[in-house]
Parts: sequence; structure tokens; C-alpha cells
Amino acid sequence: MTTFWSLYITVLTVGSLIALLWLVFATRSGQSSNTTDQTMGHAFDGIEEYDNPLPKWWFLLFVGTIVFAAGYLVLYPGLGNWKGILPGYDGGWTQDKQWEREEALAKEKYGPIFAKYAAMPVEEVAKDPQAMKMGERLFATYCSICHGSDAKGAVGFPNLTDSDWRWGGTAQDIQATILGGRHAAMPAWGEVLGDKGVQDVAAFVTANLDGRKLPEGVTAENVDNGSKLFATTCVACHGPEGKGNPIMGAPDLTHPAAFIYGSSYAQLQQTIRHGRQGQMPAQEQYLGKDKVHILAAYIYNISGQAK
Ligand code: HEC
Ligand code: HEC
Repeated sequence: MTTFWSLYITVLTVGSLIALLWLVFATRSGQSSNTTDQTMGHAFDGIEEYDNPLPKWWFLLFVGTIVFAAGYLVLYPGLGNWKGILPGYDGGWTQDKQWEREEALAKEKYGPIFAKYAAMPVEEVAKDPQAMKMGERLFATYCSICHGSDAKGAVGFPNLTDSDWRWGGTAQDIQATILGGRHAAMPAWGEVLGDKGVQDVAAFVTANLDGRKLPEGVTAENVDNGSKLFATTCVACHGPEGKGNPIMGAPDLTHPAAFIYGSSYAQLQQTIRHGRQGQMPAQEQYLGKDKVHILAAYIYNISGQAK
């Protein structure tokens, strides 16, 4: 900021404070401190105002705010180029410096706790009540936006409390998922298979789901054809029995709870026709290994594996 603008702001701000102080005292002087019966001489809807001084506490409140402002402007950078003299902030307070200070304090306080858990296997951390409380809070802050506050997921976001895993459910798999993220790639089959092909293979997946009735109009011939298409186009990723493959995040297609995009006949066709690209963002850079360690233990625990 140039000296001109710095001075401009300083004069304007200090001047206003002095003017306010004068105003508060000037309006008070001359008023008797006794309550009077004399009115101000105006009436609103029949209500008149007595000519009484401001109550003392109110007056002092005004003075107090002005004194506060003066103190604040000395300590913090509010007057042009003035940097303030708040103790503990060499060269003046800034938001960045305050944030860095809080970070450093938090690291000093929580660092040893995170280090203790980082040295334990995930399976053991999952049994520690304090670590699980930390995990719960971390999950609420960083993961619940996508996976839901109960971690049960939503359309497009997997449930993390059940035993269905797209990328594997061991402690190591879960940790790897969170650290590195996952990019699922289910190709679009609409062009390759055509409408009938998509319908038939969807019919086959439906028939393969436990306890599903075939949709109206779908015949055994459709399922049969779908089965053949599945064996040539889908097995590579979903496996010969449709049980999935955690190496590429291909999900189990044999029971409804494993689906995140819906398992109705119509939803299946939508997925198969257009493909799906679910993305789990990598957290290593963002949260760091220690927090991910605790989160992995938390997921391991809420999926019922920590016993
Ligand atoms: C290249 C590997 C690959 C092939 C081939 C493949 N898929 Fe997939 N499929 C995936 C992956 C990976 C996902 C997970 C997508 C996601 O999570 O976003 C998936 C997801 C799905 C889903 C959605 C499941 C859910 O959670 O809702 C269905 C249905 C599906 N595939 C059916 C098929 C069918 C039918 C075929 C054959 C026509 C097929 N896939 C071929 C990799 C593949
Ligand atoms: C931007 C949304 C988003 C955020 C934030 C997010 N996830 Fe995910 N996560 C996903 C998606 C989408 C998938 C599924 C990827 C796929 O289709 O295979 C996933 C998958 C996973 C899986 C694998 C599930 C399986 O079946 O194998 C785990 C474990 C997981 N997330 C944990 C977490 C944790 C812990 C956090 C918090 C640090 C988190 N996620 C934050 C979107 C998110």
C-alpha cells in the first residue's frame, strides 16, 4: 500500500474513533443525571420520550467499544501499513501465521498419539477405543460427504459397513484404497452390443441375482443369449461367475446389496450401455499416512472385521 493510502486510512479511522468519543461525551454533558419529568417534546402514536440521560452501563458500553477498537488497532494490522504488535507474531499478525502456529501446536499435541498408532498394525488400532473415536471424527470431516455420515454410502458411493468390497476388504486393501485412491473403469457397451445385446446381458445379470424374477417380456432365450455375451465380454473383469475382481475394482454382480448404481433391470441397462467411472480420491498427499492409518482401522472396525 502506498504511503498516501496508508495515511488516508489511518487518519480516517483514528479520526472517526475520536469523533465518536467526542459524540458520546458531548451528548452526555449538560444532561442532569437525575431523572426528570420533562419530555423531549415529540410524540409518536401518543408515546412521548423523557429527557433522561443514557443509563450509565450503556454509556460505558459505548466507551468500552471505542477503547476496544483502539487496543485492537494497536495489536492487529488495521491501520494502513501498520503491522500491529501482537506478542508471539514476529513482524505482525497475519491469518497465515496464526494458522501455522495452530498447526504446529496441534502437531506437538497430537503428533505422539498419531505416531503411537502408526506403529501398530491396522487390525490392532481397530480395537483401540481412543483411535476409533479419532477415526470417527476424521471420517465425519473428510469422508462423510461422499460415503454418508453413517458410512452406508449412496448411489455411486459404496457402503463401507458391509462385507461387499470392490477393491478388497483386508486391512491392507482398505489402507491402499484410501492412500492411493481408486479409479474404476467400467466400459460403455452400448455401441459394441447394440440395444438387444445390452438388454439380454442385463437379463442374464438379473437372472443371476439371487431370488430375482425376470422382468416382464424377458424370455429364457434372452437370458441364454445374455449368458453367452457375458462369457465373452464381461468375464475378463467380473469373472466367470460374476463374482467380481478386486484387482480392477470390478464388483460382484450376484447379489443386490453389492451394487452402487442400482440393480433393477432398467438401472443395469443404463450401467452397461453407458459404463461407469467411480472415483475414490487419493488421500495420502492430503491427509498424510498417519491419519489414513487410523481411518483404515476405523473402516476395518465398522465393517465388522475387528474382533
Ligand atoms: C474392463 C473391465 C470390465 C468389463 C469388461 C466389464 N466391466 Fe462391469 N464393471 C467394471 C468396473 C471396474 C466396475 C465398477 C465401476 C464403478 O465402480 O464405477 C463395473 C461395474 C459394473 C456394474 C455396476 C455395478 C454397481 O455397483 O452398480 C454392472 C452392472 C456391470 N459392471 C456389468 C457389466 C457387464 C454386464 C459387462 C459385460 C457386458 C461388464 N460389466 C464388463 C469393469 C468391467
Ligand atoms: C469425492 C467423494 C469421496 C470421498 C470424499 C471419499 N470417497 Fe471413498 N469412495 C468414493 C467412491 C466413488 C468410491 C468407489 C470407487 C469405485 O467406483 O470403485 C469409493 C471407495 C472407497 C473405498 C473402497 C470400497 C470398496 O468397496 O472397496 C473405501 C475403503 C473408501 N472409499 C474409503 C474412504 C475414506 C476413508 C474416505 C475419507 C478419507 C473416503 N473414502 C472419501 C468416493 C469418495
